[in-house]
Amino acid sequence: ARVVALVPAAGRGVRLGAPIPKALVPVCGAPLLVHAVRGLLAAGCVDQVVVAAPPDMVDVVVDALREFGPTVRVVPGGEERSDSVRLALDEAVSTHPDTRVVLVHDAARCFTPPEVIRAVVEAVRAGAPAVIPVLPVADTVKEVDSAGHVVATPDRSRLRVVQTPQGFDIDLLRRAHDQQDAPVTDDAGLVERLGEPVATVAGHPHALKITTPFDLVIAEALFSGAQL
Ligand code: C5P
Repeated sequence: ARVVALVPAAGRGVRLGAPIPKALVPVCGAPLLVHAVRGLLAAGCVDQVVVAAPPDMVDVVVDALREFGPTVRVVPGGEERSDSVRLALDEAVSTHPDTRVVLVHDAARCFTPPEVIRAVVEAVRAGAPAVIPVLPVADTVKEVDSAGHVVATPDRSRLRVVQTPQGFDIDLLRRAHDQQDAPVTDDAGLVERLGEPVATVAGHPHALKITTPFDLVIAEALFSGAQL
């Protein structure tokens, strides 16, 4: 396989407040994770998917993903998101040594349009070693101190919100994870620390991250009538 997608789905989903891990919460008739994997495969440019599942729920996740067959593998995730990504990456490297391009895609962004996925893969294939989908920021953003007092107002026109899938040359992502020294919230952050360039492509509002009950309502409203 030349393009492998890693799907960290081992989080508890505390902010969603559901009694089961977020990846298994149903939305529009199927668990989030099933929509996420379906979307990756529907893009037509992903050869293999490796999912990091909550370690105590691997069997349940394997069962939920049975419809996809051997194209989708499941590994137990780790303590932090980056641990889950690293474990999935190890699995991808050992089972598919010919992999050149890796996508890292949050299960929570389960309705990411296929064109975003394709744009990321194409940009990596065209030679960008790290690529992230981004959107402009609608709100003014402030930096605050621990007491909540504003310390800075960054120029909004230079800010972007970041989505997934994030795409990488596999050797670069491995190097970035090997040298991780402090937690980051996305994989591109690790690449930046190596001093390597990170390119951007256009994201999409439908790639929203389902985090809170509010987001679930939005997703149901947007996609429950859609052909999924
Ligand atoms: O916590 P956060 O919202 O940043 O999580 C983003 C994604 O990372 C989610 O899809 C979640 O399931 C996953 N995750 C993971 N392993 C963890 C924590 C989060 O795979 N230990």
